[in-house]
Formats: sequence, structure tokens, C-alpha cells
Amino acid sequence: MSLYCKRKQQLQIKNTNHHEKNCSSFDCRFICNRFGGFTTKTANDPWPVPDAYKNKANPRTSNAESLANGKTLWNQHCKSCHGSKGKGDGPKAAQLDTDCGDFTKPAFKNQDDGSMYYKTEKGRKDMPSYKTKIPDANDLWDLVNYMKSL
Ligand code: HEC
Repeated sequence: MSLYCKRKQQLQIKNTNHHEKNCSSFDCRFICNRFGGFTTKTANDPWPVPDAYKNKANPRTSNAESLANGKTLWNQHCKSCHGSKGKGDGPKAAQLDTDCGDFTKPAFKNQDDGSMYYKTEKGRKDMPSYKTKIPDANDLWDLVNYMKSL
């Protein structure tokens, strides 16, 4: 078994979702299946958002300046898990217990701006809170604009 395969196998033990994608050679799959003891990532629980946040108006127009700022922040803070295109395939994603989601899908996009803002500010489980790391509300709204553009 290659070193690459062995490392992937270690990551895959708690993460079957990514197993097929990352660990596809025969010997690796055999070893993984034989000794891995997989558990699957279960669907994330619904994430309730207080009405006060849902109804918050986004004060930032989604123009070139806002999107450029959002992109810079995204690459700095979010890409490692959510991936450069928001598909949930960043390098850290496979090690997490919870699924990062796919931000290009309607299930994500059909929520209001305030909900995206709330989740980014508060975090939960594997999703960090950005309240202190990104303290300027305008930056968080620029991130919301950027996520909607993915
Ligand atoms: C360490 C990995 C990690 C990083 C870094 C990270 N996230 Fe997340 N994020 C997650 C995970 C995992 C979830 C799913 C959490 C859950 O549902 O319990 C999530 C969920 C979210 C959601 C809610 C998704 C939905 O379906 O409504 C938003 C919005 C979000 N992240 C935005 C961001 C933004 C913006 C950044 C950067 C400022 C960021 N995340 C950085 C792991 C991460």
C-alpha cells in the first residue's frame, strides 16, 4: 500500500463519503474495507436561524468591490474547508465529522442573506465562529454576497 493510500485510509476511516473519490486503488479499497470500520457522515441537522437575523437587510450591494473583498476573505478563511468554488471539497473537509455542504446548490442559495450571515458569525460544531476573526459586519456581508455568487 502506498504511503498516499495509507494516509487517505486513515482519513477515510471516519469518512466514507470521500472514500470512493480519494481511495480508489484496489489494494487501498480492500484494506480500507477490511480494517477501516467505516461510519458515514450523516446529514447535518437543520440549523435554525432567529427571526431577528433572517429579517436583517444586507447593507452591502453585491458590486465588484464587495465581491472582491468577499473573495479575498473566502480564500483566507473559508476555502480550506468549503473549497474554492464552495462545493465543500477543500483540503480539510475530509477530516471533519460534519459535511461542509455544497454552496452552488439551491438548498444553500435559497436561504436569505441574514441566515448566511448568522451561520458565518455564530458557527457550530466543525464550522468556526467568525465573530471575532472577522469583526467588521461589512466584511461578513461581503462574504454573503460572494457565497451567493459561487
Ligand atoms: C474548519 C472547516 C470550515 C471552515 C474553515 C469554514 N467552514 Fe463553514 N461550515 C463548515 C461545516 C462543517 C459546516 C456545516 C456545519 C453544520 O451544519 O453543522 C459549515 C457551514 C457553513 C454555512 C451554513 C451552510 C448552510 O447550508 O446553510 C455557512 C454559511 C458557512 N459555513 C460559511 C463559511 C464561511 C463564510 C467561512 C469563512 C469565513 C467558513 N464557512 C469557514 C466548515 C467550515
